[in-house]
Amino acid sequence: MKSFLLCFLFMLIVICTGALEKQLPCDLRETEHGSVCVCNSTYCDYLEQPQLTDNSQIVVISSSKNGLRFKKTTGYISEENPLTVDDIQFTDEDVDPEPRAWFQLTNISQRLFFNTNTKTLRISVRREQQFQNISIFGGALTGAVSYLLKDLPEELQDHKYRSYYHPDGIAYNSVRMSIGGSDFDLEPWAYNEWPRDDPKLTNFTSLDPRDLQKVEQLRRLKTVGQLDELKIMGAAWSAPRWMKTNNRWTGFGHLKSEYYQTWANYHLKFLELMRSENLPIWAISTGNEPLNGVIAFFIVHFICMGWRPSQQAIWLSDNLGPTIRNSAESKVLIFGDDDQRYTFPSWFREMRSARNDSMSYLDGLAVHWYFDDFFAPELIDMAHTDMPNKMILNTESCIGEKFWQTRGPMLGAWHRGDAYMRAYTQDLRHYVNGWLDWNLVLDEQGGPNYAKNFVDAPIIVNATSRSEIYKQPIFYAIGHFSKFLPPHSVRIETRIENQGSPFTQLSVVGFQRPDGSVALIIYNGQNLPVDVALNDSQRGPINLRLPPRSWHTVLYK
Ligand SMILES: *[C@@H]1O[C@H](CO)[C@@H](O)[C@H](O)[C@H]1NC(C)=O
Ligand SMILES: *[C@@H]1O[C@H](CO)[C@@H](O)[C@H](O)[C@H]1NC(C)=O
Ligand SMILES: *[C@@H]1O[C@H](CO)[C@@H](O)[C@H](O)[C@H]1NC(C)=O
Ligand SMILES: *[C@@H]1O[C@H](CO)[C@@H](O)[C@H](O)[C@H]1NC(C)=O
Ligand SMILES: *[C@@H]1O[C@H](CO)[C@@H](O)[C@H](O)[C@H]1NC(C)=O
Ligand SMILES: *[C@@H]1O[C@H](CO)[C@@H](O)[C@H](O)[C@H]1NC(C)=O
Ligand SMILES: *[C@@H]1O[C@H](CO)[C@@H](O)[C@H](O)[C@H]1NC(C)=O
Repeated sequence: MKSFLLCFLFMLIVICTGALEKQLPCDLRETEHGSVCVCNSTYCDYLEQPQLTDNSQIVVISSSKNGLRFKKTTGYISEENPLTVDDIQFTDEDVDPEPRAWFQLTNISQRLFFNTNTKTLRISVRREQQFQNISIFGGALTGAVSYLLKDLPEELQDHKYRSYYHPDGIAYNSVRMSIGGSDFDLEPWAYNEWPRDDPKLTNFTSLDPRDLQKVEQLRRLKTVGQLDELKIMGAAWSAPRWMKTNNRWTGFGHLKSEYYQTWANYHLKFLELMRSENLPIWAISTGNEPLNGVIAFFIVHFICMGWRPSQQAIWLSDNLGPTIRNSAESKVLIFGDDDQRYTFPSWFREMRSARNDSMSYLDGLAVHWYFDDFFAPELIDMAHTDMPNKMILNTESCIGEKFWQTRGPMLGAWHRGDAYMRAYTQDLRHYVNGWLDWNLVLDEQGGPNYAKNFVDAPIIVNATSRSEIYKQPIFYAIGHFSKFLPPHSVRIETRIENQGSPFTQLSVVGFQRPDGSVALIIYNGQNLPVDVALNDSQRGPINLRLPPRSWHTVLYK
């Protein structure tokens, strides 16, 4: 009888809560530089995809420096004016351990120009004006990630896969992996290192054990993430040493021209072997960061292979392009450049002037984010104007690698999440169709890797206890985009009508989703709350009040 009652109670709870979207809140822990969300084998935070029940409903998902993580606020466009997002108790302390000159200026300008009154930000949303669509969001399963994951308890591995790939997590649909080794491996490597001088690649007949381990992990990731299709993007960092002019993994060196066809066959072999594992590759690039082996070799001390655009155009037109297009892997997309923004659009223009048909082999253009603070996003617009039909992806980003930054992770650092918010917003406002972040997880030092190249990641593993993982603010910053922008969401025009001071740390980007609803991602980098007066071309005015140092995804029909 007692158990019947309990059972009845339990059913009531399930039925009642079943109607609402379920949220398992972040287990917030204060750490050295701010707060992280802790997951262990038995607990991790998730948010079911919010559903809009009717046309006047508005849902705001918020994260804040003070401790909100994907907090859901629901209201109605007509009733509540403004809809207020309540923060956790605000403390007026802001110590950025990694201050940048213009952060300081921002702080001063905010106080000079706006005193401390709440400012009203007027944002117009014009759904009629549409731009590019969304294709993918994801991160990289590097050798370092694969190595760290295998030592975690299975439940914790699953929480990581679910957190990234499931719709209740941040709904990634893509993963980047290196063909051979990258800088985030335990040692540099390539297929067919032995025998040397072997143009027939006689020893490249099966996947390396390191890749077989990744194959197992990708299978599990697909299952846990409930993905029908996982879009895998491959890129090679370097050919085996014997194919290169310098016979070394790093430094100034490029592919010997007698091995151009061998190097194309090497790519095809990898595609075939991955397909035989039932994990076909969706896209490849022409090679990771080709300028590392040309001009950046004095600062880059890890595996790389140099290309000049004119040489790469010849290889693409004569070897890689025809090899892929005339094979059973002909549908695999090919992306060009895969290097920093400052190479746009000149890299492609030089390729075209060397071989006028080379661009016809490219389905897309790939860019990395590392020097975005110094090179304007208009460079991406120029590439888009030259080639409006090519997909543009940001294929690598991480923070903490610069000599003026703390090398490695900063647990809880909100300002690093801010940097991601600004970067994703900026690229998406400039024709970028999707984004692949770098390592999915790293250890407390920001490794492991042979190159001593220590950086931050959205999730940090406690490699000491192996019983906890820490979701950084960066994880939620990315999630404010990836979770709420399914493929085929189309960017719509959004404009801040009263931007005011150039130092204002406020930005917005908007999308119309495949179900017709609108998703606006709003960033408030100020130490002040902000009132937002939205004016949607189809809905009219919507008013919001947002807390200081906060990120939001606003959803309505
Ligand atoms: C896992 O985290 C939950 C939530 O904080 C906690 O209740 C539980 O005790 C933790 N489990 C272990 C084994 O630490
Ligand atoms: C911003 O200004 C506040 C108050 O004037 C100060 O306490 C804080 O340290 C400043 N932050 C930075 C990053 O300069
Ligand atoms: C083939 O590659 C494997 C693994 O790298 C190596 O152990 C073996 O010696 C190679 N075979 C030849 C004939 O070089
Ligand atoms: C491309 O270049 C080839 C030889 O370099 C030339 O014959 C051809 O006319 C060019 N095609 C176009 C469209 O410019
Ligand atoms: C999305 O954008 C890509 C690249 O611009 C384009 O090829 C594709 O047709 C677009 N898809 C939709 C559904 O608009
Ligand atoms: C990792 O776990 C160990 C053992 O529980 C603990 O002492 C250490 O503080 C944890 N590391 C972090 C970064 O929390
Ligand atoms: C909202 O935008 C429309 C045009 O889309 C304009 O006519 C109207 O005046 C705007 N309303 C406000 C309050 O700015």
